[in-house]
Amino acid sequence: MIEDLEKILFTEEEIHRRIKEVAGEISSDYRGRDLVLVAVLKGAVFFMTHLAQALSIPVRIDFLGIESFSPGRALPGVVRISKDLDIAIQGMDVLIIEDIVDMGLTLRYLLNMLQERHPHSTAVCTFVNKATRRLVDIPVKYSCFEIPDRFVVGFGLDYGQLYRNLTCLGILKKEIYQS
Ligand code: IMP
Repeated sequence: MIEDLEKILFTEEEIHRRIKEVAGEISSDYRGRDLVLVAVLKGAVFFMTHLAQALSIPVRIDFLGIESFSPGRALPGVVRISKDLDIAIQGMDVLIIEDIVDMGLTLRYLLNMLQERHPHSTAVCTFVNKATRRLVDIPVKYSCFEIPDRFVVGFGLDYGQLYRNLTCLGILKKEIYQS
């Protein structure tokens, strides 16, 4: 599987080290608060489990399933909820856990949707950030890695549902997705 990568951007060790750093920031920012981590399925699952275990404060966890409808990118940012939260988030501090923020359209939709449920606060924590691709202004409070505008896979990120189980993060070879 690793042979399908053009380049490894971050190794497993680098990823774990960085997640621990970000978890330290989150633990001190949210100590004494009522925090729920909301991971967006499926990509954020790997990040969520590592991050949650690296926190030194007790948190709730929940999952949101989404399907993005962007046929030919004609309607980018149109999202359907395929699995809603189990927890009622009213009055809670919500941290949305994402695998990647690219154009930001998915997150804009999710933030608006969660806001209607009257949480105490909402913030975003992403594993990787492609800030140069942003179309809408999204407040990303925590980001493990800033990455260039290339297609990346691994540590939850997929191409056609494959490669999520790679323990590192890498740039996928062009011939894989152009074939
Ligand atoms: P956006 O921020 O609304 O543009 O959408 C982000 C979504 O696009 C992510 O949840 C991924 O499913 C997908 N995506 C964007 N860039 C990549 C990438 O480099 N690798 C894998 N998926 C990506």
